Amino acid sequence: MSKFPDGFLWGGALAANQCEGAYLEDGKGLSVPDVIKGGTMDTPRKVTTTIHEGEYYPSHEAIDFYHRYKEDIALFGEMGFKCLRVSINWSRIFPTGEDEEPNQAGIDFYRSMFEEMHKNDIEPLVTLSHYELPFALAKKYGGWSNRKLIDLFVRYTKLCFTEYKGLVKLWITFNEINCLCAPFGNVMGAGIMPPEDNTLLDFSVKVEWDDEQRRYQALHHQFVASALAVKAAHEIDPENKVACMIASRAVYPYSCRPEDVLLAQKMERICNHYCGDVHARGAYPSWAPRLWEEKGVSIDMEPGDEQILAEGKVDFYTFSYYKSSTVSTDPTVEAGTGNVFYDDALNPYLKFSDWGWAIDPKGLRWYLNDMYDRYQIPLMVVENGLGAADTVEEDGSIHDDYRIDYMREHVEQMAEAVHDGVDLMGYTMWGPIDIVSAGTGEMKKRYGFVYVDKHNDGSGDLRRAKKDSFFWFKKVCETNGEELQDPSSAHGVIRDPCVYLAR
Ligand code: BG6
Repeated sequence: MSKFPDGFLWGGALAANQCEGAYLEDGKGLSVPDVIKGGTMDTPRKVTTTIHEGEYYPSHEAIDFYHRYKEDIALFGEMGFKCLRVSINWSRIFPTGEDEEPNQAGIDFYRSMFEEMHKNDIEPLVTLSHYELPFALAKKYGGWSNRKLIDLFVRYTKLCFTEYKGLVKLWITFNEINCLCAPFGNVMGAGIMPPEDNTLLDFSVKVEWDDEQRRYQALHHQFVASALAVKAAHEIDPENKVACMIASRAVYPYSCRPEDVLLAQKMERICNHYCGDVHARGAYPSWAPRLWEEKGVSIDMEPGDEQILAEGKVDFYTFSYYKSSTVSTDPTVEAGTGNVFYDDALNPYLKFSDWGWAIDPKGLRWYLNDMYDRYQIPLMVVENGLGAADTVEEDGSIHDDYRIDYMREHVEQMAEAVHDGVDLMGYTMWGPIDIVSAGTGEMKKRYGFVYVDKHNDGSGDLRRAKKDSFFWFKKVCETNGEELQDPSSAHGVIRDPCVYLAR
């Protein structure tokens, strides 16, 4: 018997702003990520108030998925993907977010993309908001801090549910909605822009212009918008299933000191349960008022909001998992690296990626069990992967055994969790084809099974090439996760030569 249930959704996940490019083509409006420049691990990205001509913004071309989606989806089909998670760029459908009529070219583009997936036997899983927002809404309303966005979002989502009825049945409302519990969420998650041009997106230091009150209020607006979207999705097509999406944080106490244990519990609550509870239980957790009190936050709720939340519970719970984190109240404990959310302590039992993210497959099993115990609804891992620099050999091959090892170990832990009794629907790894990094804006931080000839400075001819991991994952999909060894090392099979695809 397979370790994974029949119909398990193996596949990959992408975000429109990180792959599509064509940032003003066919009527698309400017979007928040279009004003974020490229950076590196050591040089934070900068946010501008307008486009600075002649400067490099990674989303403008990205990997040109907009024009190449057919050949890219064919590669995913060749690997045997059962599912592809993509997102819709709101500003392709409503360029300013408030247009009287939607942009037909944008609607047609996504319809064609979903049809292409079906031709390849791939089920679309569609995120309605993945770190993007029509820039006009950010400028005019201060993004999600304004309640006005709820109605605009619901209008946009209803249009998507109606237009893509029958083509898409699996939806996610907001990507990593809990990023709004940290300064990181301001720009990417909520379109709350910094007051000055060229502001650094540096999360390793205190963000001076961050306003927690505004962020938590924006999050409340997203909760209400998400709940209304869930309700609309069910009304428009009872076959629709809608999920939330949380950036998971498996939090360990650094020591068994009660202070560390309590801090770990608090962090787990803020990072996972605060949003998970509203989405999956339909209400804020009982400890939320104390959290608001401690933060000096007061949530402005309108009459009826609580009922909307209760009526808009999600059907399944999805999350990204890259790393675990370790916390301590002891300031002398050595700090960890590569943090986006909060300051972690260095976990001495783990290894770290080149971008400083703790590699912890067992943390995934822990998280799956924890969340399933709590919510008792199907779970899905919709992001997981290793961001690494790859080397293209002289013959064009790319030997990314480190990526295979990372994913194999995580898939093994998912199998353990399924054995533990977790109802797990699928696994869409992050970035099946190399795309722009959200955090650093780099191309060098690659996740893909498919290499893209594009570099940090924007150079490259965009050709695609299969990495070794391509053949490994093909085997995983074919065997429903039974065969996890690298096919060449396990059986002496000679891989297909790495093929550069002609354009
Ligand atoms: C998740 C996001 O946080 O992590 C993705 O949903 C992002 O958009 C991914 O790309 C990996 O992060 P990064 O910074 O390595 O691109």
